[in-house]
Amino acid sequence: MGGLIQSVLAQSAFDTWRNLAYIVAAVLFISGLKKLSSPRTARTGNGLAALGMLVAVLATMLHLQALSYVWILIALVIGSGIGVVLAARVQMTQMPQLVALYNGSGGVASALVAIAEYSRAGSLLSADALFIVGLGTLIGCVTFSGSIVAAGKLHGKISGKPVILPNQMLINAALIVVALLLSIVLMQYPGAWWTIPIIIIGSLALGVTLTMPIGGADMPVMVSLLNSYSGLAASAAGFIIGNLALIVSGALVGASGLILTAIMCKAMNRSLGNVLFAGVGTADSAGTGGRESTFGGTVKSADPEDVAIILDSAQRVMIVPGYGLAVAQAQHIVKELAGKLEARGIAVMYGVHPVAGRMPGHMNVLLAEADVPYEQLLEIEPANAEIDRCDAALVIGANDVVNPATRHDKNSPIYGMPIIDVDKARTVFVLKRSMAAGYAGVDNELFVLDNTLMVFGDAKDTLQKINTALDEL
Ligand code: TAP
Repeated sequence: MGGLIQSVLAQSAFDTWRNLAYIVAAVLFISGLKKLSSPRTARTGNGLAALGMLVAVLATMLHLQALSYVWILIALVIGSGIGVVLAARVQMTQMPQLVALYNGSGGVASALVAIAEYSRAGSLLSADALFIVGLGTLIGCVTFSGSIVAAGKLHGKISGKPVILPNQMLINAALIVVALLLSIVLMQYPGAWWTIPIIIIGSLALGVTLTMPIGGADMPVMVSLLNSYSGLAASAAGFIIGNLALIVSGALVGASGLILTAIMCKAMNRSLGNVLFAGVGTADSAGTGGRESTFGGTVKSADPEDVAIILDSAQRVMIVPGYGLAVAQAQHIVKELAGKLEARGIAVMYGVHPVAGRMPGHMNVLLAEADVPYEQLLEIEPANAEIDRCDAALVIGANDVVNPATRHDKNSPIYGMPIIDVDKARTVFVLKRSMAAGYAGVDNELFVLDNTLMVFGDAKDTLQKINTALDEL
């Protein structure tokens, strides 16, 4: 008896320490997230959040109930091995699909935790926990299949075109209602194990039917939303197994994913409902549109040497990067060009659109990699306040985010999206390989404006040639 009391006391003292460690981890997660909001502090933020995760993992592993260290080590080796190979192989431009796969793994892991805990503890679970077993399985499986479809679309394995079934909304609503009803059945009848496979199948189908109608151009928003779901699924799993760290970290992922989704929608001037159900974006996402522009007008082109001459006589130049900069990996060469212009006394700034590229902060990450000073990066509003004073705008692999049709063409699918108004600069150079449309698959009237000169070719090659020509002037 004495031994039992001592072990209970020791157990509760351990629980107290573990919960304290979880609170420390939560504080680290939150301060890490806060620091991620600025490129200047993002690296430290990442480190803090990783430290928080280490604290949480160590605190959990100190007292194992269901698993041995051997199993954990095996999982660790396999997981880390896959992680290292993926990190080494994946290209920067493939990052969104990798994030989608990570979200999917998170979702399925949480669903498995919920199901494993049900099969372990079954009817011993509280009614709340039983309901959440159903809910967690629903969210986790939706996240999994939705993320696989999203990754497939982003990678071009599945067509980026929106696929909308007849009565799509009704089907989705029915699948959600059935899963929720079955979760209630499980809560009332803890032995009703048969509800679980039905919830799994229905939720996997729901993930597919929710993601297929979303066009390639909007897929990054869906990935962010799925990221939020994966957090909710983790939180649900944490609730079922009574793990504070999992509840808190899942809630943080859920909330930050939702905030990011809202930011992206705002940057495109679209509602979440419009992104999820309007089926915008007909271009296949693997490429960059791929369709030749059909917009009428005369296209004028220039050689890199012509660009160098005009830049040489400029006083203010705005560089506007887009997805093509990432494809060409031209961030270092663009920094070199900026350095040459600055050495001539020319003011250089970068207009960075929040949805340029294929993931949030894509351009910021690339430019930071090349050590472009943060103070030269301007968001849409300050960039547009400067643009009409610029002698030249250098659009590098950007397309949709500089399309003036968004200001006046009510029929354009990207009508209303705030853009960087490069057309208001004295001369606009557009560096891209062809007249192909951008990610949203819409023609860009910028290309045929009087003050626009197209400079065809891979952005890195073209920039290299401009640099050489500048050196020779
Ligand atoms: P896009 O409109 O996709 O245009 C990129 C352009 O880069 C293409 O037209 C392509 O033309 C060119 N390009 C590709 N490879 C190149 C290379 N090697 N050298 C030079 N040019 C190259 O890009 P954007 O302006 O950055 O707009 C982003 C799009 O993604 C928007 O539609 C946005 O709404 C959508 N989106 C983004 C996000 C986030 S979070 N970033 C989220 C949701 C949606 P060529 O093929 O002719 O070279």
